This record gives sequence, C-alpha cells and structure tokens, in this order.
Amino acid sequence: MARPRVSSIDGKLASEFAVPCHVDEVKEKMTAFASHHAAAGRRVVLITSGGTKVPLESRTVRFLDNFSSGRRGASSAEYFMDSGYAVIFLHRHRSLYPYARMFSTINMLDALKFRGEEEASSGEVVVNQQVLPNIAKALKRYQEVKESKLILPIEFSTLSEYLHLLKAAAQALSTIGSMAMFYLAAAVSDFYIPASEMPEHKIQSSNGPLQLSLNMVPKILSPLVKDWAPQAFVISFKLETDASILLDKARRALDTYRHQAVVANVLDSRRGYVVVVTPETQAELILSEEDAKNEVEIEERIVSNLTSAHDKFITQLGG
Ligand code: PMT
Repeated sequence: MARPRVSSIDGKLASEFAVPCHVDEVKEKMTAFASHHAAAGRRVVLITSGGTKVPLESRTVRFLDNFSSGRRGASSAEYFMDSGYAVIFLHRHRSLYPYARMFSTINMLDALKFRGEEEASSGEVVVNQQVLPNIAKALKRYQEVKESKLILPIEFSTLSEYLHLLKAAAQALSTIGSMAMFYLAAAVSDFYIPASEMPEHKIQSSNGPLQLSLNMVPKILSPLVKDWAPQAFVISFKLETDASILLDKARRALDTYRHQAVVANVLDSRRGYVVVVTPETQAELILSEEDAKNEVEIEERIVSNLTSAHDKFITQLGG
C-alpha cells in the first residue's frame, strides 16, 4: 500500500508549532460533518476567517496580530449557506460570526429594555426594536442554519492552532474530493518564533530595547493543494496595501501553488472592490454607490462568482 507523502512542511509543523490538544477530536467532527453533507449531495466549504496571533512568550503577555475583523469570512459564510453549501467556519476566537456580525458594534445593554410600566421591578426584559430593527430576520436564519447543522464553528487564536486545524480540516475534506471548497480569507502571519526559541516568562523591559528575530512561516497553501486535499477547489486571498503590485502578486500565487483562484484586494477598498483571478480569467467585482445604498455586500458577488466556478470545476472533472 502506498504510504502518504510527508512533506518537509509536515515535519516543521510537528516540531516547531505546538499541536492543540483537541486537534484529533476536531478532525473527527469535521470528517463526520463533511461525509454527512456530501452524502446528502451538499457541497462543503471550509472558510478561514480572522487574524492569527503570534505569541512572543510561552506564558503569553505580548503577541503580534494580523489584521482582520472577520467580516469577509462571516458574511461569506451566510451567502455560501444561502447557496446550498454547508460551512466549516474556522475563525479567530471573538472575531465576527455569521448573523451576529450585524450587531457587533451594539452595546447589549442599549439593545434591551424592561417590559411594562413597572420597569425594573417587573424584571422582564425585551429587545428594543429601535436599536435592533433587523434582529428577528437574523435570528430566524441563524436558528434555521443551526438546526439544519449547516455550520460547524471551529475556533483558533494562535498561528500554531490555525496551522494544525487547517491541516486537520484539509485531511477531513479530502474524503469528499471535488465537492470540497477552501476559502482562505484569514489573515495569516508570515513570521513566527519557534517554540524552542520562545522565552517562557514575560519579556522584561528592564533589559532594555527589544530586538526580535522572526522565522518565516512555511506557506501552507503548498501542501494543502499538493498533498492534503489535492482534488478540492481552493481559493486563496491576496491582501496588499499597494494596489500597483496586487494583480502581479495574485498571478504569482496561482503560478506557484497551482490552485484554482485568488481573490485579490487592497486594504482600503476591500469592501467595495475585489478582483477574482483564475489561471484563465480576471473578474473585477465592484459595488456601485447604488449598491452601497441598498446595502448590497461584495461578498454576495464573490460567493456567486466562486460557486459558479466550482460548478464548472466539478463538471470538468466529470463529478
Ligand atoms: O476580515 P476583514 O476585516 O473583512 O478583511 C478581509 C481580509 C482583508 C483579511 C481578506 O479579504 C484577505 O485578504 N485575507 C488574506 C490576507 C492575507 O493574509 O494575505 P497574505 O498575502 O498574507 O496571504 C495570502 C494567502 O496565503 C492567504 O490565503 C493565506 O491563507 C495563505 N497563507 C498565508 C500565510 C502562510 N504562512 N501560508 C499561507 O498559505
């Protein structure tokens, strides 16, 4: 029997990034989730969302963070479920969550009020509809997807957790071949301190200015596409702050990793403009002022574009 390939990245993952203790249990859950939905003819998308945290000390007081609110991932999850997909939502602890995201800026106590005249003495609390006008619609859809088990939420905080959980997810989803999609919207650190070089205790400022030397994080897209889930439809994201290098970087990523698509975006304009780049095509998705007025979200267009591309991908493979 052929033995699975062990890439050098697998070795590095095992030796330099602490393995979360629940990774096997989570992998089992993801495998069961994927096979349950695939058996019902439903496609499954793994969405990564939010930023990774890189600790500077083992007993962590300080850490480096990658910017991402998680809005892209959370809103995309909603549109994928509306399009008939089941979603594994691998997200940063406390980043934005589908449906709840719409109320993330509201202070819960401002959104509640006492019912009736006696106010506080009645003890009965109800939602203040003026503060949360859309809550019933969001609650209804949230409960529907929860009851139909259309979403499996998995949390990460550190880069190590992210990497190991992503690998576990890829292996779980490899069991359903081309029915799996990877939508890698998380903002992942390119730098880290290996576990063996990390100080245990809080770094002391009394020792003077801090100089950090960080190692390069292995590009996880490479084993994901080649070894862990070779039949899946894989989309990475490319974030830049300099628009002039964006498309070139997106094309280079496709050439290097040989996956299916890159969603390219610039930090300042990411809510209204992205380019979906594939080996053969380049589609600009733009929200007009009218769209913005009507609260259209760009994620609806991204998901529509990518679910059609996934259809074609499966058809070409004869699936
Ligand atoms: O969450 P929001 O506030 O809504 O913002 C959304 C977003 C801007 C974070 C999102 O649209 C986005 O662009 N996410 C990707 C950001 C990013 O980390 O880009 P990158 O150039 O560092 O990485 C490119 C790709 O390589 C990513 O898909 C990442 O999953 C992958 N990667 C990164 C590092 C690494 N070691 N291995 C990888 O495979």
